[in-house]
Amino acid sequence: MGANLMNVGHVSSAGAVSHDTPLLVLPVHESRDHKAEVLAPAGLSEVISGVCPAEDLKHKPGESALVYLKEGGGPRRVLLLGAGKPWEFDLEARRRFSGHAVRAAESVGVSALTVYLGSDMSADSAQAATEGAVLAAWRFTEMKSPDEGDARVDVVDFDVMVDPDDMDAGQTGVEAGGAVGRAANFARTLQSRPGNVATPSHLADEASRMADERGLEVTVLGPEELEAERMHALLSVAQGSDQEPRLIVLRHNGGPDGEAPLVLVGKGLTFDAGGISIKPAVGMEDMIFDMSGGAAVIGAMQAVGELNVPLNVVGIVPSSENLLNGRAMKPGDIIGSREGKTIEVVNTDAEGRLILADALSYAQTFNPSAIVDCATLTGSVVIALGHHAAAVFSTDDDLIEELRDAGDRSGERCWPLPLWDDYRRQIDSQVADLVNVGGRAGGSVTAACFLKEFVGECRWAHLDIAGTAYGEGKLSYQRKGAAGFPTRLLVDWVRSRAG
Ligand code: BES
Ligand code: MN
Ligand code: ZN
Repeated sequence: MGANLMNVGHVSSAGAVSHDTPLLVLPVHESRDHKAEVLAPAGLSEVISGVCPAEDLKHKPGESALVYLKEGGGPRRVLLLGAGKPWEFDLEARRRFSGHAVRAAESVGVSALTVYLGSDMSADSAQAATEGAVLAAWRFTEMKSPDEGDARVDVVDFDVMVDPDDMDAGQTGVEAGGAVGRAANFARTLQSRPGNVATPSHLADEASRMADERGLEVTVLGPEELEAERMHALLSVAQGSDQEPRLIVLRHNGGPDGEAPLVLVGKGLTFDAGGISIKPAVGMEDMIFDMSGGAAVIGAMQAVGELNVPLNVVGIVPSSENLLNGRAMKPGDIIGSREGKTIEVVNTDAEGRLILADALSYAQTFNPSAIVDCATLTGSVVIALGHHAAAVFSTDDDLIEELRDAGDRSGERCWPLPLWDDYRRQIDSQVADLVNVGGRAGGSVTAACFLKEFVGECRWAHLDIAGTAYGEGKLSYQRKGAAGFPTRLLVDWVRSRAG
């Protein structure tokens, strides 16, 4: 079993002394008077203090001490892992804690570990701890030749240990965390596949395979269907490439028939060279990640199906390449759109808003209770917020609050930017209904204003994830490259809607 399919294991009520595991991880907290305190299940505290000098205990997150116990049915190794101050040990700290635990298992060379989660465990805490472990265990190896000298072990088995009273909460949390973690890892795998593999038709095939496995409905629109739907903005972007575009539609019917669905829309631009307004060569390879929004929507739909959320949820992914050939869209072209609005294309590199325009227009046909789209839309959002939060835009303050809360809980945070009419005027065109770029000033805001023109009266929010979808992999549960952002946020938001 590969790390992508990590086995999220059992919740064992703390019979820790006899719990057979190659590695048991215990949190070490910093007390009010700055002492290190091990959180150990009944029976184990004495064993630990018998073999580990108190001064060796480290409480800072990520720091640790490893002790070995005698063979005889119980844990062989115990990692005393820094967990910081207990009052700061929130959901994100638990995710990072599990990430460190998995990294420790990797460096010791064991493929299984058990993490003790302490007493008074909530389902949310168990979920976060499980997410951290599943995310940390993921690697993208499918395109590397197996290296015989590579002694690395993949962590494939993760168990949590809770106190007897917390068994139900633990079980619920481990199941949810496993589903969310695997969904994010699926998104990361799709993100990581390069442009020559992850084409629009590949994304559609992967979404269809996932839908068949999880009992979701799937429809894929190709060039003829897109033409019939008058999706000329999406088709105009795709005409510069030999790869056909796709519009992927996934449906989870968890709610009553006829109940208005939530609609998730994700930008699935499988490689963004910029088109005729071509990008500079340096860093262009990062544009394999321009389908990250689409990957997150496909991943989120997988978790929504697996957790059988009692709501109707639709996932829509417009997918295309943005290349340049003799038929490519040119600066100055005026194109149509499904919504009927005409668009003056001044810069072919502002293609995300074009393919999203048609997808958002199509989303309205489901009469949604809300639409949330996510897209690696602008470099400008990286300047505004860096790599620690996505920007959220909405005309509905309640929706912004819901998404901010989901972001805080899931550890995939977002922060609001405005959609005022003053910005909207920057995309007025002399010759068409809209121009596709609004100048350098407020680039992520004018991009969001552009999208707003295609959602009609629907309750809608937009997440600009250009700064957060992929990165250096600084956190313990991340790796360099694909982050899966905002899969966790989307699943959390959908589940919060179910009450
Ligand atoms: N895919 C890019 C945005 C992007 C930039 C994603 C950096 C990830 C990292 C998008 O299609 C784009 O090219 N946007 C342009 C818009 C501009 C031409 C108005 C940008 O942000 O430079
Ligand atoms: Mn672009
Ligand atoms: Zn793009």
